[in-house]
Amino acid sequence: MERKEFLSALSISLAAVCVGCSLASCGSTPKSEDPAPKPTTPTGSLATINLATDLPKVGDSKVLNGIIIVRLAQSNAPSSFSAVQVACTHQGTPVNYNTAQGIFICPNHGSKFSTTGAVLLGPAAVALKQYTVVITGSTLTVSA
Ligand code: FES
Repeated sequence: MERKEFLSALSISLAAVCVGCSLASCGSTPKSEDPAPKPTTPTGSLATINLATDLPKVGDSKVLNGIIIVRLAQSNAPSSFSAVQVACTHQGTPVNYNTAQGIFICPNHGSKFSTTGAVLLGPAAVALKQYTVVITGSTLTVSA
């Protein structure tokens, strides 16, 4: 083998090895300089329920995905429903909907919240997060 042929064969072999190394580094293992994955903020639908079967009567409530959804009136307009976080902002106890009073009450220390989540009575000092309700036919969808 001539020197020129040897060098040509050697460069082809080295190129193949480098391509292999490069492809191996393209695996799923993040490189040290890769930025950390960003937390995702939920968008779109957080809960979906069937109004006819899940909330047929005024005062009915359902908890899904950390959200309590209550039927406040018989019509299927969005204003006939309340959707707020179920965890009390005081110490996280799930709140209940009190149909007679039309408010959310925490059974732990007695905090009271309006149907929009506003604090009516402490010790909770922060409102419950309120969610957006969209009605499509007999399907209620909750979004952030
Ligand atoms: S946990 Fe709800 S009032 Fe204390």
